Amino acid sequence: MPYTIVIFGASGDLTRRKLIPALFSLFAKGRLPQPTRIVGFSRTEYSHDAWRDKLAQSTAEFIGKEFDRQKWEEFAPTIQYVPGDIGKPKDFERLSAALDECEAGQQCTRVYYLATAPRFYESAIAHLGQAGLATESNGPRRVVIEKPFGTDLTSARRLNEFVHTVFDERQVFRIDHYLGKETVQNLLVLRFANTIFEPIWNRNYIDHVQITVAEEVKVGSRGGYYDTADVLRDMFQNHLLQLMTITAMETPVRFEADLVRDEKAKVLQAVRALDAEQIIGRTVRGQYEGYRDEPGVAGDSQTATFAAVHLSVDNWRWQGVPFYLRSGKAMSCRTTQIVVQFREPPHMLFAGAPPDANRLVIQVQPAEGIQLHFQTKVPDSDMKLRMTDLDFRFSRAFGGELPDAYQPLLLDALEGDASLFARSDEVELAWGIIDPILDAWRSRNEPDLAVYESGFWGPIESNEWMNQQGRNWFDSCPVLGQ
Ligand code: BG6
Repeated sequence: MPYTIVIFGASGDLTRRKLIPALFSLFAKGRLPQPTRIVGFSRTEYSHDAWRDKLAQSTAEFIGKEFDRQKWEEFAPTIQYVPGDIGKPKDFERLSAALDECEAGQQCTRVYYLATAPRFYESAIAHLGQAGLATESNGPRRVVIEKPFGTDLTSARRLNEFVHTVFDERQVFRIDHYLGKETVQNLLVLRFANTIFEPIWNRNYIDHVQITVAEEVKVGSRGGYYDTADVLRDMFQNHLLQLMTITAMETPVRFEADLVRDEKAKVLQAVRALDAEQIIGRTVRGQYEGYRDEPGVAGDSQTATFAAVHLSVDNWRWQGVPFYLRSGKAMSCRTTQIVVQFREPPHMLFAGAPPDANRLVIQVQPAEGIQLHFQTKVPDSDMKLRMTDLDFRFSRAFGGELPDAYQPLLLDALEGDASLFARSDEVELAWGIIDPILDAWRSRNEPDLAVYESGFWGPIESNEWMNQQGRNWFDSCPVLGQ
């Protein structure tokens, strides 16, 4: 069956930087199902050719040396453009007519990709519904919705209800690009395709888990958005909680979208609800020096650009095992790591053992891989121990560049596999964890918003807070090179 992807927000940044480069790379590798048409929809008046030319330029810029001009010439005719306004029902009728014409009445899978600002989601969905574009008499119809999905639990619920007036849940694909990263998918394989980790993946052997998403960049030109969002809405509600659910979930019965998402939802349900007092003791918030001078940011902004949060998962597997989540902008380097710290041996025979072993580091990015830290005897020494490691790097094992996260996710959306997309209940449960933290911070104005210098691991208060709990952050820029 042919496929059509309709991109709303076709003249925007996401389309240029991510969607078209991903679709083109899939095409160039022969992985894009054939035939697939791409139809752009936005207000700017372009002809088909003008839009194609613009995309050729931006794709060459974002793909770099992999850009193959000849392949692009083959790909370009599959791209079309329909000018239109998301706010105008009439423009959806024109879009519908243009789609019917190019699909020539054939059965066709259609994916509507909302790459617009979130304030247009409801309007786009309503008008898709009114124009009959969600009905499936001529093949499957799906909608992909970008983050942020709501700004709190109430708005996310409202948006879910609204979406469900037009699309069934099975037609809705809420994208979190972290789930498309190879290492995140590999975490599922590591845990569920190997037997060696499962017996120790629990409270009996694990002391705690750290999930760090550190970014070196600052807010740049996104100050206006970021100042109303903050790090909890921007990174925790989606990416960090998704990484946590995959680390903590039980084995699904089968690798099927709803079975996988049932297990992820159970983790979120098990996250302990805390009162404001407890939240203050379990969180650190920070703002990088100079943030208030960024364009679009209020001069007295209280927005956190760094947070560390201690969550407890109340179930048999994880009782008593802290999950420490942290993320920030303007940090030492760009690295995303899941660190599983195993317990110390119950009785240590060797004096002076370094404390930093018994640890599994899953490096999600930039150089994807896994490292296991363990104790070894230093040769020709008197039982002196040193931490050594075993490592696995994707680049060494498989060669080549890993695909950008949008590639597998776009393929899944075309093929109707929602395993790596967030379901409505997951999104709402995640907001149910984030909202009370934001409320506690706002109502109590605590913990202090610690100002931190850029280029480090966030505020010093974050290290002190960890030390008070008898633990240390694993502050390491990518442990694995390419
Ligand atoms: C986005 C956030 O969802 O993820 C950005 O809005 C952040 O603030 C980005 O920079 C990080 O994504 P990645 O893939 O570069 O880690």
